[in-house]
Amino acid sequence: MAKLNFGGVEENVVTREEFPLSKAQQVLKNETVAVIGYGVQGPGQALNQRDNGINVIVGQRKNSKTWDKAVRDGFVPGVSLFEIEEALERGTIICYLLSDAAQIALWPTVQKHLTPGKALYFSHGFGITFNEQTGIIPPKGVDVFLVAPKGSGTSLRRMFLQGRGLNSSYAIYQDATGKAFDRVIALGIAVGSGYLFETDFRREVFSDLTGERGTLMGAIQGIFAAQYQVLRERGHSPSEAFNETVEELTQSLMPLVAENGMDWMYANCSTTAQRGALDWWKKFRDATRPVFNELYDSVATGKESQRSIESNSKPDYREKLEEELKELRESELWQAGKTVRSLRPENQPPAKEEVHKDHKVADLFKKLVEKPENIG
Ligand SMILES: NC(=O)c1ccc[n+]([C@@H]2O[C@H](COP(=O)([O-])OP(=O)(O)OC[C@H]3O[C@@H](n4cnc5c(N)ncnc54)[C@H](OP(=O)(O)O)[C@@H]3O)[C@@H](O)[C@H]2O)c1
Repeated sequence: MAKLNFGGVEENVVTREEFPLSKAQQVLKNETVAVIGYGVQGPGQALNQRDNGINVIVGQRKNSKTWDKAVRDGFVPGVSLFEIEEALERGTIICYLLSDAAQIALWPTVQKHLTPGKALYFSHGFGITFNEQTGIIPPKGVDVFLVAPKGSGTSLRRMFLQGRGLNSSYAIYQDATGKAFDRVIALGIAVGSGYLFETDFRREVFSDLTGERGTLMGAIQGIFAAQYQVLRERGHSPSEAFNETVEELTQSLMPLVAENGMDWMYANCSTTAQRGALDWWKKFRDATRPVFNELYDSVATGKESQRSIESNSKPDYREKLEEELKELRESELWQAGKTVRSLRPENQPPAKEEVHKDHKVADLFKKLVEKPENIG
């Protein structure tokens, strides 16, 4: 574990240099890692671990599209893909990657298979932190820990395939075997984390629920909608309003922020833009801070978890979510976005000139294959 300085604050982190994949493989060599659930995190984590040489099996209910997806991804029924209960029986480390609502429903089954020495792994602090609402209280003899990748399971897999890594937090809730630290870090490395930072279950879930309701998803959509609406009401076209609100941000500016920070992005814009942005950012901070405090309170008092459990446990929860997503999708803002995206040069069919050029190359290639001496 290394202590690194983050803007003046020291934190414990684990990097791939100190805990290389070879060490993770060594720690996990006698374990069977059972990934329970093959939704979004399940595939990312299971496939990365499999490619990293870990003995991983998947537990998924049968007769579902998700089971078929696991088969398509190369998990073999009866060998590395099982019904949930059988995978729970076979696994020594149980990666509990069902949706948070399903984790509550399946808990009585999982509990039966948590024999002493096994480990229970989460990717979210939700089930344990809000255990008065979830009923998830693990038995004493098992290790309980989490690795929470800071991003979608889809990105976890894509970045792994590109040789990159998504950062993850880790936390130990219960160390029954004395091996919890090595086990959790080995898993964190094996699922493809960039670096791992330390947290606890409570802080993980509080920051995660705040982040996704805040700047990562809820707040950003709210700010987009507000600015777009003002521009439209003041007579700007959808094209202008969308480009000034979303397209320029995602296509031009955020990649610069990702590369070198906000100050560098500012410094690479006009001085007119810098002057205005420096004048206005604190007003936006002060206007939204009370909302962020209200949000954090709602998370910390369990209101958000309660709402999530209640709505996502209903049999028609997917349809209900889809209805609300449809409202977003059909809004003028995102319909305008669809058109703008279709006009990106990379999404355009090749121009006539290029098609002509491509045909010429194809003709040449054909001649070369058929009769190499034709090429002078
Ligand atoms: N989504 C992310 O990228 C992300 C990021 C970081 C952390 N996490 C955490 O990772 C965990 C998994 O999240 P996720 O988004 O991957 O979950 P998800 O996609 O919603 O999980 C779906 C999985 O749960 C199964 N499932 C749902 N209801 C079930 C039931 N009643 N009985 C049996 N199986 C059921 C689904 O099977 P069927 O398809 O057959 O219904 C599928 O395998 C959560 O704790 C989440 O907070 C997720």
